[in-house]
Amino acid sequence: MRPQEIIAIKRDGKALSDGEIATFIDGVCDGTWTDYQITALIMAMFIRGLNRREQYSITGAMLNSGTIMDLSDIDAPKGDKHSTGGVGDKTSLIIAPLAAVCGVAVPMISGRGLGHTGGTLDKLESIPGFDVNLPFATFKKILKKCGFALAGQTKQIAPADKKIYALRDATATVPYIPLIVASIMSKKLAEGLDALVLDVKTGSGAFIQKYAETLKLAHSLCETGKTFGVNTKAIITEMNQPLGRYVGNSLEVYECLKILRGEADDVMQPTLELSVELTATLLVQCKVVGSMEAAKDKIRRALATGEVLERFRLNIELQGGDPKICDKPEGLLTKGLTKVAVIAEASGYIGDIDSLIIGNAVCEIGGGRLTAEDSVDHAVGYECIKTVGDRVNKGDELGIVHCRKNQSTHIGEKLRSAYKISRDITRTTKLVRATV
Ligand code: URA
Repeated sequence: MRPQEIIAIKRDGKALSDGEIATFIDGVCDGTWTDYQITALIMAMFIRGLNRREQYSITGAMLNSGTIMDLSDIDAPKGDKHSTGGVGDKTSLIIAPLAAVCGVAVPMISGRGLGHTGGTLDKLESIPGFDVNLPFATFKKILKKCGFALAGQTKQIAPADKKIYALRDATATVPYIPLIVASIMSKKLAEGLDALVLDVKTGSGAFIQKYAETLKLAHSLCETGKTFGVNTKAIITEMNQPLGRYVGNSLEVYECLKILRGEADDVMQPTLELSVELTATLLVQCKVVGSMEAAKDKIRRALATGEVLERFRLNIELQGGDPKICDKPEGLLTKGLTKVAVIAEASGYIGDIDSLIIGNAVCEIGGGRLTAEDSVDHAVGYECIKTVGDRVNKGDELGIVHCRKNQSTHIGEKLRSAYKISRDITRTTKLVRATV
């Protein structure tokens, strides 16, 4: 069947058969479908919708577009964490070495920046020399040596998602539950896992912003995991402000290193708190410990000994990066950037920080992509100084944009519009909203 015939079926609002979906995914992988045909069908799916059967069918076809990793010769339980995408959401860089030190093998396949959110691969590439394009044999060798490996989709592992992910990023087709489920689960199920914990974001900076819809996404992800035999849990977490202090690739790696070095400041605490919660859940799922309390104790001890930082250093070495950044995280910060302060226009309490505005602003100054072919500027980003619930006075700094000289004129104004300041405290935040 020709691509245009399959596109026409969905354009006209009809369901696609399993065979038609398989033909589409085959065409994505063997290059017989062009980018514009792939995008036309994805947009038609986005607008016309996919039913439950179609959702399972596209997830299965995307998963089977590559191979499922055989990790049976690794004794440790295999576990991973994945997020549905957030702003300043950098926990993977902490969770992978932390879970590895605690006894879980973490074969983490991640993505690049998507929409207004950052991606683990782009963050890792801000470490000089760090290679995320690993053939499976190398990936496995690294996993065996240090307990975790971090890489992108390849021709062998989740190739359909590699292509479709990049096109969705550039064509405003990310925020649709069946496409998110297919994208995430085709990557994660290819890892041959025993357990998977999902960080499902809700609120202004999430792809699925409304809580009721977020719950649906969480259930759908868990059901898919269960159908494919993987112990899957979802934790719904708040994205009504960026996570932690920094948004932007190098800046986020810097924050993670500060945390692993035991030098986290107050604004970084939520990044640590969420990393601990997700890792603890994974340790319990993998039966490394029997309870969340025992898991958190184990995690705190691992962090306090410095072993997690050392494990991250080993991984950086094995993946070709410069391990010296573990001793001097400041080396990641680009000198000579322009810093633009975002100033409070009124006194009061910060009620909300629209993280969609912040994520889009960071993309606009080069931290994300406008087209699939773009490279990102790893250096730029945003620093949160005040967070939700903080008292501020008119003229206080709310945050600082780290940008290139020619970008400084309008960006401060845009970012100021992300902040809602009210006379009274309107709400406080709870990072973890629910577990599914
Ligand atoms: N993360 C993914 O890997 N895919 C999505 O579609 C959204 C978040």
